[in-house]
Amino acid sequence: MAKELRIGMIGYGFMGRAHSNAFKRLNDFFSVEHRPVLKAVAARNRENAQAFADNWGYERVETDWRKVVTADDVDLVDVCAPNHLHLDIVLAAAEAGKMICCEKPLAMNVAEAEAMVEAVEKAGVPNMVWYNYRRVPAISLAKQIVTEGRVGKPFHYRATYLQDWTISEGVPQGGPGTWRLDIDVAGSGVTGDLLAHSIDTAMWLNGPIARVVASTRTFVTERMHAVTGKVQPVGIDDACMFLAEFENGAMGTFESTRYARGRKNYNTLELNGADGAVYFDLEDPEHLHFFEYQQMQSGKKVEDHLTGWRKIHVSNHEHPYMDIYWVPGTTIGYEHTFLNALGDFVQGVESGEHTQPDFQCALQTQKVCDAVIESGRTREWVETGAE
Ligand SMILES: NC(=O)c1ccc[n+]([C@@H]2O[C@H](COP(=O)([O-])OP(=O)(O)OC[C@H]3O[C@@H](n4cnc5c(N)ncnc54)[C@H](O)[C@@H]3O)[C@@H](O)[C@H]2O)c1
Repeated sequence: MAKELRIGMIGYGFMGRAHSNAFKRLNDFFSVEHRPVLKAVAARNRENAQAFADNWGYERVETDWRKVVTADDVDLVDVCAPNHLHLDIVLAAAEAGKMICCEKPLAMNVAEAEAMVEAVEKAGVPNMVWYNYRRVPAISLAKQIVTEGRVGKPFHYRATYLQDWTISEGVPQGGPGTWRLDIDVAGSGVTGDLLAHSIDTAMWLNGPIARVVASTRTFVTERMHAVTGKVQPVGIDDACMFLAEFENGAMGTFESTRYARGRKNYNTLELNGADGAVYFDLEDPEHLHFFEYQQMQSGKKVEDHLTGWRKIHVSNHEHPYMDIYWVPGTTIGYEHTFLNALGDFVQGVESGEHTQPDFQCALQTQKVCDAVIESGRTREWVETGAE
């Protein structure tokens, strides 16, 4: 018989919707024993939260997140609130012995992330951070190709994550919708918001980043605060470019901005090794590009007139996750990355395996983010300490 997995969600915005969709569809696609039950959602505005709860099927609404985190009828706390709230919610949830899935970036800084790791490890509760891009089947396939040794000795890693929604000086900081521009709520700008994803994927594919040197920029230095109406200095990095040295000797470049006119969510990666390369672009999410330097022909490895990039349509049943969806040649979407992450997490809970990325893993990403911000300030190379 199915076991109930009773969900308490904090925050009902963009991620609240994406995760609720995943909870609702889990058993339609993943063969797991647990069945999510949408018990409670917490947010400050009861009326808005109630409308969300009615739409998505949550049983009740709370305006104080602590009531959800400590509720007897909640097994899993899902943290979908802005970054400055992650610490307190996670500490309280761990104390209450709940499983915790937390949105990225895990924390505002390394000190907070360390406290969160300590709390979940002491409580012994299953935990995961929603670095969902790992669960794009094409990126999971890239991981498989790298693990199989088909890229060979890695030399270069290249990541971009570009958006264009904060170019206008009229965009406020703080408040609903624009909290990402408020340093006290977000912790950092594009580094924690966008590059954290790129860093998580990079270290998953290519191992730890040992040191970084960064250039960060705040293009609009004062913005009105959406809540107070006061014009205040802007503390976040609007754009960030950094060089990285991986522990395996590869060099990396990372670029992120919210000022790349025309780019809405342009998230790309490329890894070039001695024997091959992989390239991915989120605007073309069902494809992985793979270059194989030498292919087996008549028992010999050769480079010949057929050598070149392969554009793999990641939709065969042999591809990661694709055996649980439709028929070969058909595709899945953004929302499935959260469903895949949840499926992996629940399978991990059931098998006793630690699903990655857990809090310990996300702490390593946080270390790189903090080192990038520090380097942006000092303009010097900074050791990350990431493992
Ligand atoms: N994995 C991803 O790709 C991805 C994408 C977007 C956002 N995120 C992360 O998810 C988190 C939420 O981002 P979002 O885009 O959903 O934000 P959002 O602004 O759309 O939603 C935030 C929600 O938190 C609620 N909230 C704010 N203060 C609260 C409080 N004191 N108590 C309870 N609820 C409160 C708001 O009412 C809102 O429902 C952030 O950490 C963000 O970095 C991750």
